[in-house]
Amino acid sequence: MAPIKIVFTGATGSVGQSVIPAIIRRPEYELVGAVGRRRAGDDVGLIMGMDPIGVRLTTDVHEALAGSGAQVLIDYSSPSVATGYCRAAVEQGVAVIMATTAMDRGEVEEIGRIAERNGVGAFVAPNLTLVGQLTFRIVEMVKRYIGDVEIVEGHRNAKLDSPSGTSLETAARINHTPGPPQTPDQTRLGMPESRGAQVGGVRIHSMRMPSLFDHQEVIFSRPGELLSIRLEVFNSEAFVDPTLKAARLILSHRGLVRELPSLFDADY
Ligand SMILES: NC(=O)c1ccc[n+]([C@@H]2O[C@H](COP(=O)([O-])OP(=O)(O)OC[C@H]3O[C@@H](n4cnc5c(N)ncnc54)[C@H](OP(=O)(O)O)[C@@H]3O)[C@@H](O)[C@H]2O)c1
Repeated sequence: MAPIKIVFTGATGSVGQSVIPAIIRRPEYELVGAVGRRRAGDDVGLIMGMDPIGVRLTTDVHEALAGSGAQVLIDYSSPSVATGYCRAAVEQGVAVIMATTAMDRGEVEEIGRIAERNGVGAFVAPNLTLVGQLTFRIVEMVKRYIGDVEIVEGHRNAKLDSPSGTSLETAARINHTPGPPQTPDQTRLGMPESRGAQVGGVRIHSMRMPSLFDHQEVIFSRPGELLSIRLEVFNSEAFVDPTLKAARLILSHRGLVRELPSLFDADY
């Protein structure tokens, strides 16, 4: 089978440095373009500490896509540039994996519409780990039985956005699921910000510290009992296999996709 041709944006980032070596090593995939700022102009293989591959890092997504034959653009960059990268791809009939968090929701919808028109898929995936995707499903099940819920999340303090994309998606899943009413919060005194960010009916408390990576606890509570759903991701390796499998699966979709149901079936 011919390899899937991939352009990667955010290539010099922490996730890029884990996913790109896997793209280069695995024969089912071919890196045909890469976008980043540091070391622009250098061969991407050398940037990853490998042999040269004949693909140079560029700062310009149009240059990366032009004549590359790309089928999928994988984006792990920054909200300020991710929209432009993903839009450029779908406008040229290239499918996208939108993994950057805190992208503007309206822009994401628009990218989905352009993708639909051009017959390609656009996967919006704020957490591409198995534990993240399972969390999204589990909270929907629990919300049907328990109405009181808060989220505590932690990431490294180099992260630009807060609350995390994972916690916002978790809150959205909880808010969209019917369940018992919440117990009224009686807090009146003190520092209101200590109660966290209010996202619909869910409060999110965010920690940003150097030694953290990707952590979240969703706490459901009712009188006399509590259920805690905790996810811990320790390094970027957890993103590699799901990201590459998503790049394959998205080729058989069209328009905006929020779940790829078989993403974690055990065939990789
Ligand atoms: N969906 C998921 O499962 C998942 C998992 C992990 C991370 N993420 C998200 O993915 C994104 C990247 O994460 P990361 O940990 O790899 O971040 P990172 O280490 O900070 O890397 C960011 C990348 O984006 C590039 N970049 C940043 N600002 C830019 C700008 N203004 N113009 C051009 N390029 C720019 C950086 O280029 P230079 O370094 O060359 O300047 C680098 O390649 C974040 O939004 C993060 O929240 C999502």
